[in-house]
Amino acid sequence: MKTLIASRPGGPEVLALAETALPEPGAEEVRIRVTVAGVNRADLLQRSGRYPPPPGWDPRRIGLEYAGTVDCTGARCILRRPGDRVMGLVAAGACSEFIVVPERETLSIPANLTDVAAAAIPEAFLTAVRALWDEGELTPGEAVLVRIATASVGLAAIQLAHIAGHPVAGTGRDSARLDALRALGLDHPLVEGGGMVQRARAAMGGAPRVVLDLWGGGRLSENLALLSDDGRLVVVGLLGGNRDTLDLATLLMRRQSIRTLTMRSQPTEARIALVRRFERQVLPLLAAGRLTMPIAQVYPVADAAQAHRDMERGDRPGKRVLLLATAAD
Ligand SMILES: NC(=O)c1ccc[n+]([C@@H]2O[C@H](COP(=O)([O-])OP(=O)(O)OC[C@H]3O[C@@H](n4cnc5c(N)ncnc54)[C@H](OP(=O)(O)O)[C@@H]3O)[C@@H](O)[C@H]2O)c1
Repeated sequence: MKTLIASRPGGPEVLALAETALPEPGAEEVRIRVTVAGVNRADLLQRSGRYPPPPGWDPRRIGLEYAGTVDCTGARCILRRPGDRVMGLVAAGACSEFIVVPERETLSIPANLTDVAAAAIPEAFLTAVRALWDEGELTPGEAVLVRIATASVGLAAIQLAHIAGHPVAGTGRDSARLDALRALGLDHPLVEGGGMVQRARAAMGGAPRVVLDLWGGGRLSENLALLSDDGRLVVVGLLGGNRDTLDLATLLMRRQSIRTLTMRSQPTEARIALVRRFERQVLPLLAAGRLTMPIAQVYPVADAAQAHRDMERGDRPGKRVLLLATAAD
């Protein structure tokens, strides 16, 4: 079978399709014929050698999220049957014609979603659920500010928070892109720039209890200033860099906390618990057409290097996905 690999750490040009052995599922695993895989910034970092997967995963194999069809099941599988349409996350190697995963880590694809639409769901929406409720501990009615609302995780977070009844503010660089997000539930679009704390307070009528941050380095003080007393800052992405400084006295006086998360370093049982909860709470919303993830562009897997280049440029919101099988639409 073919697998997308980084032949050595480097730029998009190191991506190549390699012939690898067909994986055999263990007793509680299923083998999935992948039709479409999502592209994520973590893939770009892994490709360049800066973000290896956890031990046990091949650091050359690229891809965190997939959609496809169950090809065969292990001896003790009870949830899945060959032919089931499934989507989900892996720690590496989703851009392969076949993968094996624990059957309990797979999510059913709602009938209204194509495989292209499904491959864009797991990373953004599972991350947003963890950030808002597990780490952010949002309780009913609390306001949330998503910094960057136009990022994929941001797009997922604003929709989920809105449907759950939370007032939602979100930032971005482009006012037209932000305004378009009102249709997805963004109550208060805030263009990045000076006076952010005052503008956010004025728009929201106070300070949010949770800030979900995808930017990281350089905005820590501002994020804490944006946040209410007792608020939770959830740092999920480091687009702006890894380093910052912190005034611990202010943090203590305002009783704020800083939380973080990574999806792929979670233990398997924690991943499974999140997926099963997602199936109960979020899948029905996807099936009802109440959640969406815009697709920025679809590429054949042979054009993976171009997809990585386009993502590095970051010129368009939404997910980029790679077709592994021509049958996917
Ligand atoms: N911790 C975890 O487990 C986890 C999980 C998922 C994602 N993440 C991280 O979260 C971050 C966001 O991920 P994502 O998938 O949501 O990102 P994405 O879909 O690629 O969106 C990133 C957005 O950032 C905005 N942006 C602002 N300044 C930028 C700049 N200088 N260069 C490039 N883009 C810029 C762009 O929107 P505008 O042009 O509209 O401003 C762009 O669309 C990444 O750092 C990712 O690695 C972490």
